[in-house]
Amino acid sequence: MANRGGFTSRIGFIAAAAGSAVGLGNIWGFPYEVGSGGGAAFVFIYLAFCFILCFPVMATEIAIGRKTQLNPVGAFTALGYKKWRWVGKLGILAGVLILSFYNVIAGWAFGYIFEMAAGNFGVAEKFGDYTSQVFKVGGYGLVFMATTAYVVSKGISGGIEKIAKLLMPTLILMIIGLVVYGLTLPNSMDGIKFYLVPDFTKINGSTIYNAMGQAFFSLSLGMGALITYGSYVSKKENIVTAAAWVTVVDVSIAFLAGLMIFPLIGFMSGGTMEGAGGGPGLIFVTLAQIFGAIGGSWGVIVGTGFFVLLCFAALTSTVSLLEVPVAYVVDEMKIQRKKAVWLVAAVIFIVGIPSLLGNGYSAFFTNFITYIGADQPTDFLSFVAAVANDTLLPLGGCMIAFFAAHVWKTQNLDEELAIGAPNFKGSFVQKYLNFAIMYLAPVVLGVMFILTVLSTFFGINII
Ligand code: PHE
Repeated sequence: MANRGGFTSRIGFIAAAAGSAVGLGNIWGFPYEVGSGGGAAFVFIYLAFCFILCFPVMATEIAIGRKTQLNPVGAFTALGYKKWRWVGKLGILAGVLILSFYNVIAGWAFGYIFEMAAGNFGVAEKFGDYTSQVFKVGGYGLVFMATTAYVVSKGISGGIEKIAKLLMPTLILMIIGLVVYGLTLPNSMDGIKFYLVPDFTKINGSTIYNAMGQAFFSLSLGMGALITYGSYVSKKENIVTAAAWVTVVDVSIAFLAGLMIFPLIGFMSGGTMEGAGGGPGLIFVTLAQIFGAIGGSWGVIVGTGFFVLLCFAALTSTVSLLEVPVAYVVDEMKIQRKKAVWLVAAVIFIVGIPSLLGNGYSAFFTNFITYIGADQPTDFLSFVAAVANDTLLPLGGCMIAFFAAHVWKTQNLDEELAIGAPNFKGSFVQKYLNFAIMYLAPVVLGVMFILTVLSTFFGINII
């Protein structure tokens, strides 16, 4: 087999995998889900899902990757189950779709760096106008995709690992800086209360299921991103501890993102927390208005810093999203890595164009589809996100867990996990992982897949 390259150290792998996990999902998605989902109660359920359900799935994905040293499609063949290749293909499709719209949002965030730096906070009030300037924001998107492709073209250790080791610590320091700053503002404590004191009466079916979806997306599970990264991990590494680290880092950064944003909303709302439920506009509209209200050079510094941070987080994720189809093309079609990278990136950018146009520029893509039972049309970007994040990821996760436990078998999974982990066999962690992968993950993810499809696309709400 050709030399595929690999991570050079344990910390390098953890940084890269945590970089994949930490992204728009943590800093843009998590706070708005918390805001709309009633605050602390959502946080609590999210945490439970991450550790109880997602962590075992993550260890499983990494183990499949390391065992086979291949992309998600090739991995199933290498284990001897060619019939399961479709699960890998579904993962590649999910990766392509996610990156296609994710890059559009990353492009908006990238453009915001310049708006904030120029003190143009008014962009927040006219966010719809901003996203409909497709040549401008599309240009930012193009630069973002090219940067992603450049990093991926440098390979695993020289590109992906290197950038993650540089950006992850920077990102953490920047978030901590912004948290500290936010806490000095008046009424910040009302934000903390909203965020951390749970009101369990606010929990309903959709809170639970949004928390689950958020956890799964945020940990980059269900599409083989971690099978792919796992395929570059050395046999010396302890997969279980690495997966635990990645989960802890991802959750901590989401948590810090909340600590950064809610005090700012507390400040802006004079303590009423009005605006916390702003939905997807929370960052681009509400938060940018807050930076404007802070004003002066602090407004510029904090606003610019925030969007730089958001772009760093997004970049280590787009890199992992691109690596999945690239690994597939390189391993299975034997195309040279550099060529594969630029080709795949170009295709995905093109696939993302309707998502770019569907935010005000083109009426057709803006009102793309009206789901059964819905009274408002959904735009193209949200539609693709619903198909990929809410449908393909839980389905993929369910299938990967089912495959590992019942087709490949837990004994084989345990063998792989035990390499580099001398105390794994016979431990409580082993027993728990086996249980989670055999029963919990396939059932919970399968149910979640069915409920989401019914609720999102057909308007049938069972819970
Ligand atoms: N986890 C990333 C985020 O939170 C998104 C992602 C999903 C990346 C799936 C890779 C695979 O932004």
